[in-house]
Amino acid sequence: MKSFLSINDVENLPELVKDALEIKKNPHVYKDLGLDKSMCLIFLNPSLRTRLSSQKAAFNLDLNTAVLDVGSQGWQLEFADGVKMDSDKAEHIKEAAAVIGSYFDIVAIRAFAKLENREEDYSEQVMESFKKYCPAPVINMESGTGHPLQALADLITIEEHKTVEKPKVVLTWAPHPRALPQAVANSFSKWMQAAGFDLTITHPQGYELVGEAVGNASVEYNQKKAFEGADFVYAKNWSSYSQYGKILSQNPDWMVTANKMKLTNNAKFMHCLPLRRNVIAEDDVVDSENSLIIPQAANRIYSMQVVLQHILKELK
Ligand code: CP
Repeated sequence: MKSFLSINDVENLPELVKDALEIKKNPHVYKDLGLDKSMCLIFLNPSLRTRLSSQKAAFNLDLNTAVLDVGSQGWQLEFADGVKMDSDKAEHIKEAAAVIGSYFDIVAIRAFAKLENREEDYSEQVMESFKKYCPAPVINMESGTGHPLQALADLITIEEHKTVEKPKVVLTWAPHPRALPQAVANSFSKWMQAAGFDLTITHPQGYELVGEAVGNASVEYNQKKAFEGADFVYAKNWSSYSQYGKILSQNPDWMVTANKMKLTNNAKFMHCLPLRRNVIAEDDVVDSENSLIIPQAANRIYSMQVVLQHILKELK
């Protein structure tokens, strides 16, 4: 693996998941791979899990890390070409990416969708600029349109807990007070379909994901109907793609409740976190014995570690 920007960088998905599960059994035995190598984690947005699980994965490999919070520590970056740089953006991505890539062997970036301009967010300007100007391999820690490290952790978690070869997985929209990107939902949908699972996406009208992410998934506007027979229920809020970045509904009837979970095939509950309790899902669901949110978050270590190992092998 040369870089990890999306599922398109994965050559063999079942092998990648198998490797991650193998690493999880014995995470410290691959230290030779990271020895004398270093990674820079660049955050344009906040993070708890991605930041710490990435550092932990690097620690397991003896890979040194540095963290740059662009908002509070770095110069504001300009990504557009040919502009007169007389605003608050002091440094162009051309120099920043080239310099960071000359210091480190791997560069990982988090840059959320701004939700102001769909074309801009979906052009993946930040990731694509790093890929273009940074000489080191690049890892996506959540971009304008995707969160592949999260989707890989989700897939690892489902592989660990599934009881049938091809489980019914339901991705359900849930209400949220703020407009959130579609990145997690986009990646989850793509990765579940790539794994061959039976995916249903349920959401109110107007929350259709981009066609490329929907793929061959079933779309069901009746949440209760979607839940019938589900083996996994994955809750997530996202803002509208068609009316880009808009909140079209905050209908609390879409919250995941214990009563709705009774419609499922004793489904496991999943969410990428952070989760607003009693808005996205009620306490009884979040705290139930079927809730996988903590093991799912723990698997973020192994999704990052397997990606690092695949990239480091290429660097050897
Ligand atoms: N799920 C996830 O990416 O969490 P953080 O935003 O805390 O990194």
